[in-house]
Amino acid sequence: MTLTAVVHDAAEIVTLEEGDDAETGEADGEDAKANTEDELGIYTDAAIAIEDDEVARVGPTGPVTREFPPENATHAVDASGKSVVPGFVDPHTHALFAGDRSDEFEAKLQGKTYQEIHEEGGGILRTVRATREAGDDRLLDDLLDHLDTMLAHGTTTVEVKSGYGLDTETELRMLEVVDRADDRHPVDVVPTFMGAHAVPEGRDTDEYVAEVVDEQIPEVESQDIAEFCDVFCEEGVFDVEQSRRVLEAGREAGMTPKVHAEELAHIGGTQLAAEVGAASADHLLHSTEEDIAALVESDVVPVLLPGTAFGLGAEYADARAFLDAGADVAIATDFNPNCYSQSMGFAASLACVEMGMTPAEALVASTTNAAAALDLSENVGTLQQGSPGDVAVLDAPTYVHVPYNFGVNAVETVLKGGQVVHRD
Ligand code: NIG
Ligand code: FE
Repeated sequence: MTLTAVVHDAAEIVTLEEGDDAETGEADGEDAKANTEDELGIYTDAAIAIEDDEVARVGPTGPVTREFPPENATHAVDASGKSVVPGFVDPHTHALFAGDRSDEFEAKLQGKTYQEIHEEGGGILRTVRATREAGDDRLLDDLLDHLDTMLAHGTTTVEVKSGYGLDTETELRMLEVVDRADDRHPVDVVPTFMGAHAVPEGRDTDEYVAEVVDEQIPEVESQDIAEFCDVFCEEGVFDVEQSRRVLEAGREAGMTPKVHAEELAHIGGTQLAAEVGAASADHLLHSTEEDIAALVESDVVPVLLPGTAFGLGAEYADARAFLDAGADVAIATDFNPNCYSQSMGFAASLACVEMGMTPAEALVASTTNAAAALDLSENVGTLQQGSPGDVAVLDAPTYVHVPYNFGVNAVETVLKGGQVVHRD
């Protein structure tokens, strides 16, 4: 076993471990665990040791560094005065695309709606045209650039959807590029098939749904190249029954359902997510109380995307209603040409200021709950023995700076599997 990294003398390490199992450093008579933030599992004056790519020990600096001397580690990180948190998990992005839509940002500022832009041939369909024309290497380079930006902002795991191909060849090409990016880049990339992201120009919706079900999904299955199957269940796009057909076919092909639900209007996507046992229902700007109860009942993770509401000038999802109902709320960037931010920190700022979440809730939403939205193992998004060595060291004394320092990246150093992969 190799001692890959020791991060030591941190002002705090936020472990996100369950309160009951928390280590307290009792062996040395030291109990650096701060009681006030117990649910976050915070150690003060703390260190973390990573062997191979997994966390071996977290606790007070003294005992941890005696057992795991930093000078013996491949990477020794002095985190004096700094907060250390798990690497962020971004559970909803459309980070693979070609072309530029910054002019649509200007049009929206002039009062154009997302639907109007779509009806004029802009929006998703414009990105589809650009993506079909782009070569694989260009797509890969752009995706790797976006992953670099995400990593610099503390994201160590990200979900990326297809959905700018809308034909079998390009959808498969997108998923292959996502797979190559996952191989090449330190960030873990979780692939989602989203052939049902929009109806291609000039096509009948039912006929296109049949293509997704009968041609695209079998091809994705034969290449075993996606973990989730997502659908844009939305007024004027795919209705509930069309969405259900796609998700059920996806499930039979081994892909777990996810749903874009109630983003622009309320049509029943949240209930559909509950009925099909989706891993997550995402957006949820127009979800009702019954919808929220159904999600909680069926353990579907609500993924809220405050950046999308910000970019659209729309009302935000009612995060407090989900939290008060007992939901394990996750947040994501929704990074795409219509929502151009790769920063989970900015999503957390919006979650706090615009959706009424606390910084602690926003951190849980960016780590453990986001990992649950991707069906990742329970350790992902935590820093406890056995967790992946995915760590963000902040240039700040507390995790609160992630949302507090809005518009600025609070992350200084990032470790992935114990390797230092970014340093500011
Ligand atoms: O999640 N709502 C559908 N899909 C994306 C937008 C994609 C685009 O406009 O290119 C979303 O916001
Ligand atoms: Fe989306």
